[in-house]
Amino acid sequence: MDYQNLLVDNKERVLYITINRESKLNALNAATLAELHAALTYAFADEKVGGIIITGAGPKAFVAGADIAEFADLDVEGGRKLAIDGHTKIFNLIENAGKPVIAAINGFALGGGLELAMACHIRIASDNAKMGLPEVCLGLIPGYGGTKRLTRLVGKGKALEMIMTADMITAADAYQFGLVNHVVTPEELIPKAEEILQKIINRAPLAIAAAIKAINAAGQNDVNGYETEIAEFAKCFGTDDFKEGVSAFLEKRKPSFKGK
Ligand code: COA
Repeated sequence: MDYQNLLVDNKERVLYITINRESKLNALNAATLAELHAALTYAFADEKVGGIIITGAGPKAFVAGADIAEFADLDVEGGRKLAIDGHTKIFNLIENAGKPVIAAINGFALGGGLELAMACHIRIASDNAKMGLPEVCLGLIPGYGGTKRLTRLVGKGKALEMIMTADMITAADAYQFGLVNHVVTPEELIPKAEEILQKIINRAPLAIAAAIKAINAAGQNDVNGYETEIAEFAKCFGTDDFKEGVSAFLEKRKPSFKGK
C-alpha cells in the first residue's frame, strides 16, 4: 500500500511505522488514522512482522494530538463516532494485538498522541519528550481511551491532576509516574526500542500473545483475569513452541521458535 501520511519500513522482522506529518507535529487527521489502521492490520497479520515500533517524524513531536482542525465542526453524534472509530480501529486494536508494539516517544505526545503511546505495550521516551492530555483546554476530555489508560498507568490522583490541569509533564516525571518504561537520549531512542523488541521477538510468539492477553485481562473490570491466565497458560501446552522451548532447555541449546 502507498502511504501519504506514514513511513512504513520492515527490517529484521520489525515494522517501523513513522507518523509523517511533521509540519502539523504529526497530528492525527482522518487520513492518517485510516493509514495507521491499514498498516497495523497488515502488521498483525503478516508472518514477516514480529513486532512494531511507532514513532513520529522529525525531532519535535511524536504526535501532538488528534487534528484539531478536523473536529472543529463536530456535534455530539460526530464526537461519539470519532471516538468509537478510534477505539475500535486503532487504540484497542494495538492494545489487544498478539504482537508487541512499542511507542518511541521522540517529542510532544499530547492528547491522541499520548493516547496512542498508552495503547502500545511499552513506551520509551527521549529525554526531551513532553507528555500530556490537554483536551480540557479545548472544552473536551480525552476520547481515545486516555481517561482509562492513564488512570491504570499512573493511578487516579495523578490522572485527575494531569487531565484537569492539562499540564505537560517531562519525560523524567513520566518515568517517575510509571507512564514510560525508559528514558534515553534522542539518539538512543530507536536503538533502545529495537533492543527490547528484538529480545521479545526471539521469545515464543504464541506465549507473547498469551501474555499480552492475560495482562490486558488483569486490567479489566468485567473479566476474571485469573481465568484468562489459566486458559492462556493451558493453551501454551498445546503449542510446538512449548515442546521446542522445553527440549532446547533440556538439551542445553537455544530454542528455535516457529510461532506454532
Ligand atoms: N492538530 C492540528 N494541528 C496541530 C496540532 C493538532 N493537535 N498540533 C500542532 N498543530 C499544527 C499547528 O497548528 C501548526 O500548524 P501551522 O504551522 O499550519 O500553523 C504546526 O502544527 C506547528 O505547531 P505550533 O503550535 O506552531 O508549534 P509550537 O512549537 O508553537 O507549539 C504545541 C507546539 C504542541 C505546544 C502546540 O502545537 C499545541 O498546543 N498543539 C495542540 C496540542 C493539543 O491540544 N492536542 C490535543 C488535541 S485533542
